[in-house]
Amino acid sequence: MSEQHIINHCGLKILRSTHPEVRKIKRLQQGHSAHGNKVWRSSFALIDYLETYPFKAKSKVLEIGCGWGLSGLFLTKNQDVNVTGIDIDSSVQPYFDLQNSINNCTMEFQVRNFESINEDELASYQYIIGSDICFWDEMTDPLFNFIQRAIKTGVKRILIADPGRPPFWQLADICTENLKSEIISRRLYKPWKSEKYILALSSE
Ligand SMILES: C[S@@+](CC[C@H](N)C(=O)[O-])C[C@H]1O[C@@H](n2cnc3c(N)ncnc32)[C@H](O)[C@@H]1O
Repeated sequence: MSEQHIINHCGLKILRSTHPEVRKIKRLQQGHSAHGNKVWRSSFALIDYLETYPFKAKSKVLEIGCGWGLSGLFLTKNQDVNVTGIDIDSSVQPYFDLQNSINNCTMEFQVRNFESINEDELASYQYIIGSDICFWDEMTDPLFNFIQRAIKTGVKRILIADPGRPPFWQLADICTENLKSEIISRRLYKPWKSEKYILALSSE
């Protein structure tokens, strides 16, 4: 695979949208996937944070709205944790599979929405992550609901990264009023100069 179409970052190979294999999937899926056909940049802030504050070994992690699964793949590759990625959109799976295989990872992927995860399933995870998943006003309430259920069932920590869109701040406000949460800002210089935010919630 040509290196000009790959970003090497934190031990991960990340495919650019220009990569021939990515273009091939896009051609096959014309008209599909409004949000899942590229890597979104907030995941780089999440990776940066997770590199500084690793998860406890042997933990189970759920990545919601994982898209190409970059943050989960970073964890799978660099930390002793087990990650499951879920996404509502089946058309992201070929991209995810490609990212998974070029990184020699075996992260699990399921096509499903986060709203469908019940309390028993939530109780099996210690951590939940997500990046760029609060992009519409309609996402705020279901996400708050989900976060509240997850904290209630004992999920230790939840990290949601975002570029700072209004629905994200709305979610951050509701979480701050009702749960133990904080906002972490992360300034990045590589692979791009940018500043992103992480809503961090904990049960302890
Ligand atoms: C903006 S993309 C971000 C993808 C990935 N997290 C990233 O940072 O590259 C948002 C993703 O959330 C997924 N999504 C939207 N609503 C969802 C839901 N209710 N449950 C699970 N995934 C959802 C979309 O299909 C899409 O892949």
